Amino acid sequence: MQPDETARPSVTVLVTGAGGPAAVSVIKSLRADPSVRLVAADMDAWAAGLYLLPPDARTLIPAGLDPDFVSVVLARCAALGVDVLIPTVDAEMRPLASARAEFAAAGIEMMLPPARALDLTLDKLALASCCAGRVLVPRTEPFDATLDPASWEYPVVVKPRTGSGSRDISVVVSSQELAGMERSVDFIVQEYLPGEEYSIDVLADAAGHVVASVPRVRARVDSGVSVAGRTIHDPGLENFGAAVATAAGLTYIANVQARRDTAGRPALLEVNPRAPGALPLTMASGVDMPRLALDSLRGYPLPRHVDFQETAMVRFLDERFLDLSEVQKLAA
Ligand SMILES: Nc1ncnc2c1ncn2[C@@H]1O[C@H](COP(=O)(O)OP(=O)(O)O)[C@@H](O)[C@H]1O
Ligand SMILES: [Mg+2]
Repeated sequence: MQPDETARPSVTVLVTGAGGPAAVSVIKSLRADPSVRLVAADMDAWAAGLYLLPPDARTLIPAGLDPDFVSVVLARCAALGVDVLIPTVDAEMRPLASARAEFAAAGIEMMLPPARALDLTLDKLALASCCAGRVLVPRTEPFDATLDPASWEYPVVVKPRTGSGSRDISVVVSSQELAGMERSVDFIVQEYLPGEEYSIDVLADAAGHVVASVPRVRARVDSGVSVAGRTIHDPGLENFGAAVATAAGLTYIANVQARRDTAGRPALLEVNPRAPGALPLTMASGVDMPRLALDSLRGYPLPRHVDFQETAMVRFLDERFLDLSEVQKLAA
């Protein structure tokens, strides 16, 4: 506990996506702060993270793509006395960002980066051009009529400009194969990066000053989720994460993904402008990103720099046993 924490006014924080590991890690972090009252939200009454909190701190909300999502969340935040909203679901980011002023008028702040940073991270082509010249960026072009398959070295990667969860990604091995594919401006062609992959968790304060940059390596992945991994001290990667966050103007917690090229140099894959699912590893390494990010959002100064220790993590499923009525009551 920070020395002055008991004297802080209390704050009510709503964390969305309670069924996912990112929300669970944010809840685990913030519940250690005695000035924080937490509320967990999800679209599904079976979302595990809801049950980390008492019954009056659980709430169901629509999916991010539902036309009623923003109005329901705003009304719910007002009813529950929420001061800060922390979204952890990709599909919620844009709708919430476009309603930022409405929420602010109701006294509710969002832990979201500025609109420009959000736009950049949701568009892998725009992000690549923004970061070119600041960090190494793989050759990236829109998959439109102007793309010349003969000008590329193979393999290449074809993936959506705005995508997540590795959906619709293909590795294309020849110019003939690429020439035979249907072109779409919603897709990009990218140089294939054959080397080791890193997730760099970056914490920037509310003004965008980078306070910590923590590279992680996934040791084992099960169904897309990192189930074992380690943090790694590597000044090249730490500076890479910080440079990308600064170039994109990110604030609070972001996750910069990179992979080494044929020459072994880290190059940019993408950025997720939110807490990643493997955040407990970064927290255990010495950087409690959700608490520090919330402190900055609340106007408390952060240290200029927070360092970390290399740490390894293994993960397993855990159980909570409930009276069935607890789930049924929420779903009703
Ligand atoms: N240019 C590339 N070279 C090698 N692997 C890639 C490349 N682009 C994507 N991948 C692989 O596909 C995964 C998902 O791609 P990414 O750009 O992170 O999109 P998503 O938003 O779907 O996570 C990456 O983690 C990486 O393993
Ligand atoms: Mg990714």
